[in-house]
Amino acid sequence: MKSTLSTSLKTGFWLLVTIAASAISFAAGRSASQSEKGEQILNTSCMVCHDLRPIQMQALDTEGWAKVVNAMVEKGAQVKTEDIPPLIEYLVQSYGPLPEGAGKKILLNKCTICHDLKRVKQHLSSPEEWAETLAAMLNEGASLSDEEFAVLLGYLARNFRQ
Ligand code: HEC
Ligand code: HEC
Repeated sequence: MKSTLSTSLKTGFWLLVTIAASAISFAAGRSASQSEKGEQILNTSCMVCHDLRPIQMQALDTEGWAKVVNAMVEKGAQVKTEDIPPLIEYLVQSYGPLPEGAGKKILLNKCTICHDLKRVKQHLSSPEEWAETLAAMLNEGASLSDEEFAVLLGYLARNFRQ
């Protein structure tokens, strides 16, 4: 009796683990393919009249991106109705909001030329390390005046610290 109970408990447990694991991998697979889909829609519908640059210079939430997409559809962008939600989701994921502050504009203007801002958002550092990273970016070819360097450093150290 006892062993049957513990066997069925074990079976139940592994069943739960299996279900949980497949739910997680399902969710991960779905979001990866959703994001690929969003990127595809962007490439087909949004690169017709301009390149990625005006998109890279925005940092918007869902509402903000929905407004932009509507405005672009009014200008003549061709996006199927069912493609609008995955497109907006992708835009928020890749070009989502940034904390307000004096350095935000500099970041959007100067730091989106060679790579996207995911690199910056994921890079949590101390103020000293941010100063080193910014100096390294100047060596890579980024252009910042002394004043912009100081403002941006303050912004990054405040908002993206370890
Ligand atoms: C039919 C041409 C056309 C297509 C297609 C198009 N755009 Fe635009 N877009 C423009 C023009 C023209 C501007 C220049 C700014 C203006 O006139 O407001 C612009 C500017 C922008 C800007 C800068 C901010 C702004 O509101 O002016 C963003 C962001 C943008 N587009 C995003 C998109 C996205 C996202 C898509 C895909 C859904 C897209 N565009 C497709 C014509 C287009
Ligand atoms: C001229 C091109 C260029 C510009 C402009 C640029 N970067 Fe970079 N950035 C790079 C390159 C290249 C790398 C990759 C270096 C590597 O992988 O070793 C990088 C990597 C990074 C990283 C990751 C560093 C790490 O150790 O993982 C951060 C953070 C970063 N950049 C921040 C910025 C900021 C902030 C700005 C705006 C001032 C900026 N970048 C502008 C070229 C640039």
